[in-house]
Amino acid sequence: MITFHRPTHFYETLDTNHVMEDAFAKVQHECQSDEIGYYKLPVTSREVIRELQAYTQDNSVLLEAQTVVAVGIGGSSLGAKAIDSLLRHKRTNAKELIFFENSDPVDIVSKLKKLQKENLALILISKSGGTIETISTFKAIVAYLDFDFASDDAKRLIVITDPDSILSQFAQEYGIKEFTMPSNVGGRFSVLSAVGIVPLFLMGYDVEALLEGAGSLIDRFFERQEEHLLQKAYYLYTNNQTISINVLFAYSNLLEDFSKWYVQLWGESLGKIDTQGNRVGLTPIGLTGSVDQHSFLQLIIEGPRNKSVTFMNIDDFEEDITIPNISLKRIEKTDYINGNSFGKLINAQCDATMQSVMDSGVVADKISLSIANEENIGALIAYFELLTSITGAMMGVNTYNQPGVELGKDILVKKFQA
Ligand code: PA5
Repeated sequence: MITFHRPTHFYETLDTNHVMEDAFAKVQHECQSDEIGYYKLPVTSREVIRELQAYTQDNSVLLEAQTVVAVGIGGSSLGAKAIDSLLRHKRTNAKELIFFENSDPVDIVSKLKKLQKENLALILISKSGGTIETISTFKAIVAYLDFDFASDDAKRLIVITDPDSILSQFAQEYGIKEFTMPSNVGGRFSVLSAVGIVPLFLMGYDVEALLEGAGSLIDRFFERQEEHLLQKAYYLYTNNQTISINVLFAYSNLLEDFSKWYVQLWGESLGKIDTQGNRVGLTPIGLTGSVDQHSFLQLIIEGPRNKSVTFMNIDDFEEDITIPNISLKRIEKTDYINGNSFGKLINAQCDATMQSVMDSGVVADKISLSIANEENIGALIAYFELLTSITGAMMGVNTYNQPGVELGKDILVKKFQA
């Protein structure tokens, strides 16, 4: 179960108005017309699962592999990484999912050293097919493992890309298994397509439940049973000149990679030039509680009133440890916490910090996962994707493109070709 706590101003506009209705109609049109494809992934990706089941039955090396390697960046890695980080500690098998993302040489070398060709499933993910970090890292893996596309090595490789991309052509050239992603699904909205489903399936996660959780929330939204999403987007939109920073304060290390996924989704989707030519955007910041109480919190409480805060927590960590009943001389004042679990402590810290933030006049809300499981994570993903689409619709931006990141890529090409 996932609960949306709505204590303050985010939800003061309880009746719908024409801005909310127009945004709802736009998002509904995107979905119904298939202009934007992510809304239907909870249904269409069931076919990806069926195809994976059939393919891995004939090609068992992929399921037997103890190391699953995903090579991709941005929307091609952050979603699956966020889900793996939330569920990894519950895994009963010894499999490891390694992401090659950055062009950082130290990171690449240390990860290469972990690879053994005979124990590996390799997934190459790029929607465009030509992202320089991804393809360069893939070449480094091919060279390090002496990967031979003409041998059985190729059975260990899966390519995920857009139909007709240069990467798709590469897969066809070498007879490599390929999953395509729908061309109406953008990178940062693609976690529930083959981009996320393939690596998570090979890791043994319950991808059906993931889709189920996301699909239920999307259905409820279109049935007008999750109106808080419209109300929150409306608040963010109408106050974006003053409250321009949105903090996600997540009370668990398990949620750190989820925060990175959120930062990409929010930043790349909403930081745009709008239809009137204005520069608009809401700045996403991902914090981890309780650690960042000792860092960023001061700025929230006493700094400029330009932030909203969404707290996130996991009610039941399912694995816990008690603070021992030990009283130590001179530090007895900390004994009040003895005998309580760390799970109880971190969740109480989340509530106490949220109260302090609200008491100081900052707008806040909270999202609670009952436990970290696939169904809840699916719902969480759908929640943030829908919130992004609705807010983008209200702000009058193209939520799904990212022209701002192309300039640097062009300059890079010129640097190497000069
Ligand atoms: O959201 C996006 O579209 C981007 O962040 C991409 O995911 C990222 O640039 C990686 O692109 P590609 O999947 O084409 O390699």
